[in-house]
Amino acid sequence: MRVILLGPPGAGKGTQAAEIKTKYKVAHISTGDILRQNVKEKTKLGCQAQEFMNGGKLVPDEIIVGMMGERLKEKDCEKGFLLDGFPRTVPQAEALDQLLATMNLSLDAVILLDVDDEVVVKRLCGRRMCRQCGEIYHVTFKPSSQGMRCEKCGGELFQRDDDKETVIRSRLKVYHDQTAPLISYYDEKGLLRKVNAGTSSSSVMAEIEALVQEKVAE
Ligand code: AP5
Repeated sequence: MRVILLGPPGAGKGTQAAEIKTKYKVAHISTGDILRQNVKEKTKLGCQAQEFMNGGKLVPDEIIVGMMGERLKEKDCEKGFLLDGFPRTVPQAEALDQLLATMNLSLDAVILLDVDDEVVVKRLCGRRMCRQCGEIYHVTFKPSSQGMRCEKCGGELFQRDDDKETVIRSRLKVYHDQTAPLISYYDEKGLLRKVNAGTSSSSVMAEIEALVQEKVAE
């Protein structure tokens, strides 16, 4: 299974990807998670990316494409992968096509998680993440039973720097301007499948699973 999860910030890409990864045993590659880890470790990549991320802007294509070129060659991708947050621009999508062609691979589907901007703002303002294992919570929709600690590992929950309302609105604008063109890019290739992501997490998962089963059956 080689699938892209496409959608605005807060659509639920990370939430759904965590479940799909467990069920289908594929590599979950989140460019946002890789970048945040690099920021935390103060690597050269992290230092280059931090300012863009905090402002809700995209990290330059050449940095992301180089990073993903390396990541997709890792062993855990042999059984399939789920891309979360990549590609995010048409040049990134073209670079991915070229990279996959050199590896003799192709994509199975691009799943668009479709959700309104105001739902996104509510979701992201209330999101909390575990500093240790990255588990995703929401103060209203998915609170931790351990308060400000993670249910899975006991780690501290925190609010991402880019989850402030002004930055969320900038990220949404960037999505509509630079990432939404990928919808027609992949539709024209016959790869796009749309899911209503404005419903509960379990309904969204059921719709995604139905699409995946359809692909498996082909
Ligand atoms: P990234 O981390 O990829 O952020 P994003 O795409 O903006 O996505 P999010 O992680 O904010 O949202 P999500 O869709 O995963 O939602 P989640 O499941 O957490 O990127 C961060 C930054 O890195 C970018 O701004 C950019 O600077 C840089 N970057 C990354 N990739 C890049 C690239 N390719 N090129 C250039 N720059 C790049 O859910 C959100 C909340 O809603 C959670 O609290 C969750 O519990 C809740 N929730 C989820 N689903 C539901 C539901 N169905 N009902 C109710 N609540 C729900």
